[in-house]
Amino acid sequence: MEFKFDVEKNKDNIEKFKLFIEEHKDMPGALMPVLQEAQNIFGYLPLEILQMISRKLNIPMSEIYGVATFYAQFSFIPKGKYIISVCLGTACYVKGAQQILEEIEAQLGIKAGYTTPDLLFSINSCRCVGDCSKAPVILVNEDVYPKVTKDEVKEILDKYRSEV
Ligand code: FES
Repeated sequence: MEFKFDVEKNKDNIEKFKLFIEEHKDMPGALMPVLQEAQNIFGYLPLEILQMISRKLNIPMSEIYGVATFYAQFSFIPKGKYIISVCLGTACYVKGAQQILEEIEAQLGIKAGYTTPDLLFSINSCRCVGDCSKAPVILVNEDVYPKVTKDEVKEILDKYRSEV
């Protein structure tokens, strides 16, 4: 899935980012802090921004991709407004968390690690969130849903769809 980076909408952030590059481009190992700043400002690493980094730091795209794909903190996909985290810790797994995850994936038409084209939802899996007695647990941003069943998935998703 290709996400279109809106240059016009991000005009101010791009200017801010350009300044950051100017201030850091001559320091050794500038690539890492520059990538971190891009991730912070834009929430992911859009292609247009990676190309700008390549030009301004004079580093080939292949090298930038090499670094950006190595570290889990960097993402090439924007995050959705609502981030669904499905706990796949042992207690949740035993209580059917994998089936809950598959149901969410089926309903949203994306796999874990991805974002819906309308940028509304992202799906993640995570380790124990410390609420094992309520397994299986899912989180939508800060909201915690205990003892989730497959049948409840649609209702939970619809709640957020209706908030848009
Ligand atoms: S394993 Fe899911 S909350 Fe502990």
